[in-house]
Amino acid sequence: MRIISTERSQVLAARISEKLGVPLVETKFARFPDGEMHLRCGELDDETLIVSSVVNNDMFVQTLLAIDAADRSRKTLVVPYLGYSRQDRQFAPGEPVSARAVARALSNGIERAFAVNIHDPGVLDYFGVPAYDITIAPAIGGYVGDLRLKDPLILAPDEGATEFAAGVAAVGGWDCDHLEKTRLSGEEVRIAPKTIDAGGREVVIVDDIISTGGTLATAACMLREQGAASIHAACVHGVLASGAYTRLRAAGISSVVSSDTYENASSFISAANAIATAIRDDAHR
Ligand code: R5P
Repeated sequence: MRIISTERSQVLAARISEKLGVPLVETKFARFPDGEMHLRCGELDDETLIVSSVVNNDMFVQTLLAIDAADRSRKTLVVPYLGYSRQDRQFAPGEPVSARAVARALSNGIERAFAVNIHDPGVLDYFGVPAYDITIAPAIGGYVGDLRLKDPLILAPDEGATEFAAGVAAVGGWDCDHLEKTRLSGEEVRIAPKTIDAGGREVVIVDDIISTGGTLATAACMLREQGAASIHAACVHGVLASGAYTRLRAAGISSVVSSDTYENASSFISAANAIATAIRDDAHR
């Protein structure tokens, strides 16, 4: 087996290569004068692991090109961050189910696919091949442990993220809750942990994606008002669109970290171990 990656997943691909003890093959990326993309992989063998987060439209096309470049090989696609996965149903007439369109296109020519903390596991059914989700809640829990906080409270920003938050909290046996929005009047809402008082606590808000940061910034302001001693944020996919990082820090969040499923300067947590383990386990099935 050999590993190739697209341009925005190079670091994660190298880490997976080390964990699996499988060679990483150099891939060169370029553009033609008209803007079309080009890539060239080194020598592959009969089995290829393609590591490619679809972080934007260019990476979607590069993923298709990488799959085709490995045409003579059996291929596993690791798509740690699957862009468009939040449009997982038709919200209004005439709209596409974008997650389905992307999953279908990526399924051509591959044997199996792996995603990491996909926004909605139902999207895996849109792949035309066996597709699996991998959680890195334990890796995020490991990071929280490294922060050496005093009796941290792990909070999910909504009920949907509760299972993920529980996976993080299980690492240290920490308290865990989710935030709940209560409408106090026409203009006023209160966002607070459902059951645990945040007063005096060191809080870590965990989520699958930080995109604009709006969800966490609002939660942080409310938690400060409720007397939280400190607030940290950790997520899987640090999209950090529209100045989200500064927005969160300005909202009083002491640290904002994400994983290398979406490579950027806040990617202090790695999904490599969880991905390598899932691939090894699947090979033994
Ligand atoms: C929502 O269901 C997701 O889990 C995230 O909470 C959401 O995508 C975050 O978006 P934003 O950072 O733009 O508030």
